[in-house]
Amino acid sequence: MEVLIQADAERAALLVARIVAGEVRANPRAVLGLATGGTMERVYRQLVRMHREERLDFSGCTTFNLDEYVGLAPDDLNSYHRYMREHLFRHVNLAPGKTHLPHGNAPDLAAECRRYEELLQQAGGIDLQLLGIGTSGHIGFNEPLSALRSRTREKALTPATVKQNAPYFGGEDKMPRRALTMGVGTILDTRRCVLLATGASKAEIIARAVEGPITSMITASALQWHPRCTVVVDEEAAAQLQEKEYYRWIFANEPEWESYR
Ligand code: GLP
Repeated sequence: MEVLIQADAERAALLVARIVAGEVRANPRAVLGLATGGTMERVYRQLVRMHREERLDFSGCTTFNLDEYVGLAPDDLNSYHRYMREHLFRHVNLAPGKTHLPHGNAPDLAAECRRYEELLQQAGGIDLQLLGIGTSGHIGFNEPLSALRSRTREKALTPATVKQNAPYFGGEDKMPRRALTMGVGTILDTRRCVLLATGASKAEIIARAVEGPITSMITASALQWHPRCTVVVDEEAAAQLQEKEYYRWIFANEPEWESYR
């Protein structure tokens, strides 16, 4: 794992967007794994800007999102289908048939999860996966005690997640209690992943996920097993990390990051 600390949330998101853009330019047929949540909105804003101003071309790319709420139709206001359309898909030149999210309103959810894993296989796997982190330590909707080799499946949400995401639904009673999510094992199979966390509310969980022991209680900690995982944080989210000085040195000195400084 590699941790990159940026001054603020905007710069952290810009760095993540530039990493994605670098991948797309190097491999125009890249398969991108996408994430939702408030943190990612800044990343998508930057990618849309790069598409408009810097001719970043998504036409050859395929995308797979991490998760979707159970019971929500793709056009539901709070669905992740809708989130992706609003924040990214309708603004860039991704081919409509190449953007994938699990269908939370499929008649047979187990079959839908199998279909999603098969689609991923057929696409050749994910080149670059974007990740956020929930206050429960989840990646995707892999809540505490998710098997660290799990594949796409249905998962019940924890009270912490319901509390975190209820404001989007206008109250906890209006929010689905289950979701379909790529598994921890699915995420560990991606060739590269980039986790973005910003703000003081993520400081404790980031320190536990990055510097604590690997545990299914914090599924983001399983990323310590990933061969190529970059964690990008702003100063607020980095506040409780012990090795900040080392992480700062890495970004300031390693040749890999030269063009990103
Ligand atoms: C949801 C998503 C997660 C995401 C999290 C972060 O729970 N299922 O994949 O990491 O939101 O949310 P935010 O960026 O709003 O803090």
